Amino acid sequence: AMVRHYKFNVVMKNATRLCSTKPIVTINGNFPGPTIYAREDDTVLVKVVNHVKYNVSIHWHGIRQLRTGWADGPAYITQCPIQPGQVYMYNFTLTGQRGTLWWHAHILWLRATVHGAIVILPKLGVPYPFPRPHMEQVIILSEWWKSDTEAIINEALKSGLAPNVSDAHTINGHPGPVQHCASQEGFKFQVEPGKTYLLRIINAALNEDLFFKIAGHKFTVVEVDAAYTKPFKTDTIVITPGQTTNVLLKTNHASGKYMVAASTFMDAPIAIDNVTATATLHYPNTLGSTITTLTSLPPINSTKIANSFTDSLKSLNSHKYPARVPKKIDHSLFFTVSLGVNPCATCPNGSRVVAAINNVTFVMPKISLLQAHFFNISGIFTDDFPRKPEIVYDFTGNKQPSNFRTNKGTRVYRLAYNSTVQLILQDTGMIAPENHPIHLHGFNFFVVGKGQGNFNPKKDTKKFNLVDPVERNTVGVPSGGWTAIRFRADNPGVWFMHCHLEIHTTWGLKMAFVVDNGKGPNESLLPPPSDLPKC
Ligand code: C2O
Repeated sequence: AMVRHYKFNVVMKNATRLCSTKPIVTINGNFPGPTIYAREDDTVLVKVVNHVKYNVSIHWHGIRQLRTGWADGPAYITQCPIQPGQVYMYNFTLTGQRGTLWWHAHILWLRATVHGAIVILPKLGVPYPFPRPHMEQVIILSEWWKSDTEAIINEALKSGLAPNVSDAHTINGHPGPVQHCASQEGFKFQVEPGKTYLLRIINAALNEDLFFKIAGHKFTVVEVDAAYTKPFKTDTIVITPGQTTNVLLKTNHASGKYMVAASTFMDAPIAIDNVTATATLHYPNTLGSTITTLTSLPPINSTKIANSFTDSLKSLNSHKYPARVPKKIDHSLFFTVSLGVNPCATCPNGSRVVAAINNVTFVMPKISLLQAHFFNISGIFTDDFPRKPEIVYDFTGNKQPSNFRTNKGTRVYRLAYNSTVQLILQDTGMIAPENHPIHLHGFNFFVVGKGQGNFNPKKDTKKFNLVDPVERNTVGVPSGGWTAIRFRADNPGVWFMHCHLEIHTTWGLKMAFVVDNGKGPNESLLPPPSDLPKC
């Protein structure tokens, strides 16, 4: 295994999109930021130097950080932010991990422009469990705001109202031509005929689940969230913020230009955001040929298409890559994920929108939870996060609780090292039933079940897939439905879990697990690095 060195200078840079220019926070002046390349079991060192006026932290989304929680990155959870002028060296090893993951800023809304891909190749000499692609291409889907994203979220927090939706989506940093800015070019993907490409697709958008399609071509899905899947064919990808999807693409035409497009999926659309990002797939001979457009981009609320995609995902579960689904469960948890409304004296409406897990709106601590845990500092968090809702009602029915108020708290749930967890995530029908992409740091989990309405333990548990459920780090909890996941708590530290729709995280849809040290020599969290930022 090798050591890979990267230097991330956090710098401002002017960028022009949608025919207007604004300064954005970038890594080394690039949007999207640099790709990190490594192999399974390599060690990665990233020196982050903060040259901007904002506090910064970087999260390596999906990297397990075995015993190195200090390098995980979420601000006030595993570290204090890197302040202006400061430096922090992220140091982690890719033990047993390969595939497509990504990195992003993990503080306020900085990740709008501070994100990039992580490509982990298998160990030297180890093939993919699918036909070897001729070439590979990273595709990052994202969102673009004409105004400053930090200003947008700060304004929303002040007013207690929902923030503006983005002005466009992007594919590898570009929206492509849109109504009010037809002149801008989209991303160009040059291909050769008769070849197989591996596309590494990442949804880095702040607040939008997306559909992704290429005119005239089909995909074979082979991996999600850096875990191999049973291959299946589809013409539409559905991907939530936080997720990655690897597909094989056969270039089975001889010439021409084909539209590549990303558009919003929203089960129950509230704020309509219809701006489709486009790019083009170019064969060598395109002289005089017009672009083949997509005649069938799914409408925004195509829940059926979304479901048929996610229901097709299964672990590869081969001899070499077995699905190790926990069978005996130590912690059986039931968490509601919901929005709420709390009183707010300074807000124009007298109230503010909040979000919660088990009716707890998470309050960010003053120093990181991991420091408080490691150094036994009391008064930072309590370890009484409820294992089931404290207020029980008909979650997805018409009978709602008498008010939508949530309780504030910095509460964590404690797990013994190597214990097994089953977690039912139940969306509620309150205020805005929405698909919530829930992301767990520090682990991959198995998605053993999913359904509409209220989870029914007697009936639904019987239908769980404990053989080849898909393994991932981010899963969509369906609007007005539930998702069941299982994982083994084999990584000591403090691990954040939150909705990857950034606005819901901001509103408090987040909590953390504390996993205690085990008894063996390799079962304890390592001590913090000496340059760990201070609050
Ligand atoms: Cu990709 Cu906690 O996030």
